[in-house]
Amino acid sequence: MVDVNSLIDVKNGTQAKRIFWDADIYKLELEQIFGRCWLFLTHDSIIPNVGDFTVTFMGEDEVLVVRQRDGGVKAFLNYCTHRGARVVNAEAGNARGFTCTYHGWAYGLDGALESVPFEKEVYGNVLKKDTLGMKEVRVESYKGFWYGNFDHQAPSLADYLGDYRWFLDIWMDGTGGAELIGPPARSILKCNWKTPVENFVGDAYHVGWTHAASLKALGGPLSVLAGNKHLPPEGAGVQITSRHGHGVGILFNAAAALMGKEEGAMATQWYAENQPKVAKRLSEAQAKYYGSHFNASIFPNNSYLWGTNTFKVWHPRGPNQIEVFTWTIVEKNMPQALKDAVRRSMLRTFGTAGMLESDDSDNMESMTNLNRGPHIAAGVLNSQMGLGNEHEDPESSNIIGPSAIGETSYRGFYRAYREFLKAKDWDEIRANNGNWKNELLNR
Ligand code: FES
Ligand SMILES: [Fe+2]
Repeated sequence: MVDVNSLIDVKNGTQAKRIFWDADIYKLELEQIFGRCWLFLTHDSIIPNVGDFTVTFMGEDEVLVVRQRDGGVKAFLNYCTHRGARVVNAEAGNARGFTCTYHGWAYGLDGALESVPFEKEVYGNVLKKDTLGMKEVRVESYKGFWYGNFDHQAPSLADYLGDYRWFLDIWMDGTGGAELIGPPARSILKCNWKTPVENFVGDAYHVGWTHAASLKALGGPLSVLAGNKHLPPEGAGVQITSRHGHGVGILFNAAAALMGKEEGAMATQWYAENQPKVAKRLSEAQAKYYGSHFNASIFPNNSYLWGTNTFKVWHPRGPNQIEVFTWTIVEKNMPQALKDAVRRSMLRTFGTAGMLESDDSDNMESMTNLNRGPHIAAGVLNSQMGLGNEHEDPESSNIIGPSAIGETSYRGFYRAYREFLKAKDWDEIRANNGNWKNELLNR
């Protein structure tokens, strides 16, 4: 039995080290977080045509996502209802239906069991084919981004994203939509799934230190941070956290900061030209953030950097391992030359062999594996930076920490994490809708 109260101290901003490796905690996470939250599947741009499919994961469950004949999207657990073999072995493709490789049961794009070899001869009338379709998973999309959920009591995807959409809309909608460039690169890291999520959701503190050598080598405007020689000046950025632990750290006007000189100039021009359009399409307040660098996570395991233009899912593979899926994100209306530049820059920085990705991976693996030692494991993790400085953001209604470097969104992530692990169902979580801000603000 996991004592959740002993794991996360919201008031003091600390977490027990066990959360990075304990098998019982991991089991509870799979049930109460991955079993209840909206989990990223794919984007419209990856499966545009009827029969396009992609295979991914929801927690440890393998899922097949398929574009339907009516233009909609359905998702199914990728197993055969006969003896449980995998139905689709490819990572992605286009098909008219799906045939299990074991005995040849064949399913339609809509998951219905359509044919069984020698059905009449070998089964007679025994088989109830209409009850033996592939098991469907609830899916919804927001601005073309598709997510799946195992829990039918969960709120809609739009409500789950909640006020955090105020920030998502800036890049998902500000200039007419965003898209992903795939297929995703896939890689294995030997770390707990939360180590990259917390890093992406709120850690600007590590940039000048962990990435010192990479920043110097890249030579862009952020190289002034290398070796922790300078702190970003006051007003350089903020931290945001929202109802269900989604968060973002923002560095103003730094969207092109990790790009090469010419690529960066092209991107900077794009952001400058489009800022007035964003103001018109969304609001002046949102346009203020357009062209900033976002480091962000959508609870539980989906992260993105807008500006460095990577979009990632950290799929758990046991408490000590993850499989990372990495796409490039671009704004749909960017000229092709800029999309290509953004993609090159993303691969150089946060691709599987990217310079900054490799820097980060070392930390994540050590945080996971070191904490298993019984003496080291006894302590707590600290995320107290900026504790008590945050307030409610009048523009977006999220909680805002007023500096570029702080741990506000760490604390918001772990507040939500604790809530999911404690609550027995979504009703209990909903009942806390009016109180979560007080919890975080220690009111
Ligand atoms: S397990 Fe799929 S057809 Fe038998
Ligand atoms: Fe990093």
